Amino acid sequence: MTKENNIYILAIESSCDDTSAAVLHNGKILANVVAGQEIHKLWGGVVPELASRAHQQNIVPVVDAAMREAGITQKQLSAIAFTCGPGLLGSLLVGVSFAKAMALALNIPLIEVNHMQAHVLAHFIDAPQPPFPFLCLTVSGGHTQIVRINSPADMKIIGETMDDAAGEAFDKTAKLLGLPYPGGPLIDQYAQQGNTEAFKFPVPNIPGYDFSFSGLKTSVLYFMQKQTPEFLSTHLPDVCASVQKAIITHLMKKLKQAAADTGISHIAIAGGVSANSGLRDAISREGTKLGWTTYIPAFEYCTDNAAMIAMTAYFKFLESDFSEQSISPYARFGGF
Ligand code: KG4
Ligand code: ZN
Repeated sequence: MTKENNIYILAIESSCDDTSAAVLHNGKILANVVAGQEIHKLWGGVVPELASRAHQQNIVPVVDAAMREAGITQKQLSAIAFTCGPGLLGSLLVGVSFAKAMALALNIPLIEVNHMQAHVLAHFIDAPQPPFPFLCLTVSGGHTQIVRINSPADMKIIGETMDDAAGEAFDKTAKLLGLPYPGGPLIDQYAQQGNTEAFKFPVPNIPGYDFSFSGLKTSVLYFMQKQTPEFLSTHLPDVCASVQKAIITHLMKKLKQAAADTGISHIAIAGGVSANSGLRDAISREGTKLGWTTYIPAFEYCTDNAAMIAMTAYFKFLESDFSEQSISPYARFGGF
């Protein structure tokens, strides 16, 4: 195999509060290391300044661990990829600076990756891979979108949230229920023992494929203000199940509308909230009913990870879509 066909990419993700590095070889992930940041639990949400400091501490050991696990040397790398946004500025800067410095030192190209595009393309890490075009409901802590994917480089957002993201709705509701950050996974756990019909929370009725979650947060606040201090000791699972049901009903209603209108029947979910067991069940159930082929990512590729950055970078590498900040894109291959 020639060097040109033997592509190794190191990818770095640092957009929010996870520092991650992954190594890819010819489209296959060899390593995907993620270091979370416990410090934010103390503050009930991500504190940007603390996140960037933690990235600075984590980035070298995380990259070292990924390279060790992949069993390759720096000299074998063909390119370095990094998340260029969207995300927290201070957090992104740590990954960008590290990637640039390493690419410069190794004289190899840099590849910029959009975080939301990467969540979608996480579906190409493992089989089954969706055919084009497909629709993806991308639900994370910062975004909620329905995206039409025509090819890895051609994606169109056809609906998105007008206020809070779905993950934010989970996390903010959890905070009102006295749960620590990030509350999404905890609501999911409690909901599994609760009754989804116990309480009624509103599902917004807005036209088109857009979403709104701010009303739900307010209704949970007013609901909790009416309860006694002991209420949650017996009703927490029921409240979680009812809130989760309202969020999923809103997401599924819009997704079903988009699928019906576009006639697309290959339907994927992506992003941190796609780890939610209720949403995973709902998409499988509705998919069977409506004749969809559904694509649900492995848990490790739902929340933030560098494997999805590496996968997206691989598609870009094949198109020679390098960052303008790269030194010569073909420097390592002796091209120019
Ligand atoms: O994609 P992600 O890791 O980061 C962003 O790009 O924002 O998503 C994080 C979000 C958080 O809001 C977290 O609470 C939510 O995903 N999340 C969940 C679950 N696991 C993670 N929400 C509901 N149920 C889960 N099991
Ligand atoms: Zn994300």
